[in-house]
Formats: sequence, C-alpha cells, structure tokens
Amino acid sequence: MEQQHVIDEARRFAREQLGDDSSGHDWWHIDRVTRMAVLLASKEGADVFICELAALLHDVADEKLNPSLAAGMAKVSDWLAAQELEPAVVHQVMDIIGSISYKGGHNPPVVSIEAQIVQDADRLDAIGAIGIARTFAYSGWKGQLIHDPELSPRKEMTAEAYRSGKSTAIAHFDEKLLKLKNLMNTDTAKQIAEDRHRVMEQFLEQFHQEWHGLELDRD
Ligand code: ADP
Ligand code: NI
Repeated sequence: MEQQHVIDEARRFAREQLGDDSSGHDWWHIDRVTRMAVLLASKEGADVFICELAALLHDVADEKLNPSLAAGMAKVSDWLAAQELEPAVVHQVMDIIGSISYKGGHNPPVVSIEAQIVQDADRLDAIGAIGIARTFAYSGWKGQLIHDPELSPRKEMTAEAYRSGKSTAIAHFDEKLLKLKNLMNTDTAKQIAEDRHRVMEQFLEQFHQEWHGLELDRD
C-alpha cells in the first residue's frame, strides 16, 4: 500500500484511540511527537516513513490506556497487519514501540536510528514549556499534589517504584524530566533539549522563590 495512505490511516487510527485522553497522551502529543520525529529523521538521514508511522502509533499501546501492555501491543500489531505492509516494516515499527518507553530509566538503550529518533521526539515533548504543562496535567489526572516539601526527592529508584510510587508534579522534575537532556540519542535532539532544559530550570527556580515568598529578597 502507498506510504502516504498508510500514514493517513495511522493518523486517523491514533486520533480515534487517543483523542480525548487527559493523561498527557492526547492526540496533540502524538501530532507534536510525529512532526518532531519527521524533522529529526530528515536531519539525521533516517527512514522518515518508519519514524513517522512509529511516532503516530507509539502511545496507542500505552499501559495507562489499555487493560495491559500486551493488550495494547496486540491492538497495534492487529492494526498494522491489516495495512498490507511489508513484514519488515511491521517488525521495525513494533520493535520501536516496544522499546522506547522510559520505565524509570531501566529499559535497555535503543539501537536502530529510527528507534532513537522516535524516543528523542517523545522525550523532547516531555521537557520545556510543553513538558511542564504535561506534567501538571498528568499529575492532576493521577490525583497528585503540585508539590509536597516533605516528600524526599526520588532521583534513583527501581522500575517498580517509578511506576507505583507516590510522587508530585514538582518531584517528577528530579525523578525524570531534568535527566532527559543527557539521555537524548541524536545530536539534533541534544541541541533542541538545551533550551528546553533551561526553561524548566528557570521555572523551578521561580516556583521555589514563590513557594518561600522570596521574591522581595531578589535584587
Ligand atoms: P510518554 O511515554 O509519552 O513520554 P509518560 O506516559 O511517561 O509519557 O507520561 C506522560 C506525561 O506525564 C509526560 O509528560 C510525563 O513527564 C508526565 N508524567 C509521567 N509520570 C508522572 C508523574 N509521576 N508525575 C507527574 N508527571 C508525570
Ligand atoms: Ni508519548
């Protein structure tokens, strides 16, 4: 089947699956990650079609949105099987989707350049101004506090603790977001991450100043 047709169908499928999700995986997250994946793929000389298709489908299988990860993966592979794609393409896309998630930093590093690109695009959407917005949206969805000064930061933790532990929106910066800059795979993503990282640092600085009412002490 023609590549553009598959992309259009994938867009329709992802939008229908994720459209009104409020855990930070709504359609516009997919749209941003897909546009970033296409940009990174062209700059890095990777396969644009594979990156675009995997980016469109990357959250359809998410555990938070399905009875289980296996059920989510089956949904994606059934959909791919119906598209008359080459088996190698299906295999590559499933491989990317299965390998890119963060899991508290405990997943093995991804190998193919296409997987690296989709992972970078997804991670870039977790940092910067948009990353800040998504973190608070996700926290509200999960019923977490904005901040709890008595909760000690959990910088290092097991995959299980990362998945099930108590957290806050502000704690999530130490747990994950501030680490992402150094985990980018491609040079292009590393460059984009610099500015986005700085925006988060400035935000946290201002947040803590306001929390302690220190603005008047500032020069
Ligand atoms: P993705 O796989 O799309 O990168 P996740 O499923 O890990 O994203 O999370 C969705 C969004 O919610 C991301 O922006 C992420 O940083 C944020 N998030 C994930 N876990 C937490 C948490 N415990 N507290 C606050 N925000 C979180
Ligand atoms: Ni995502």
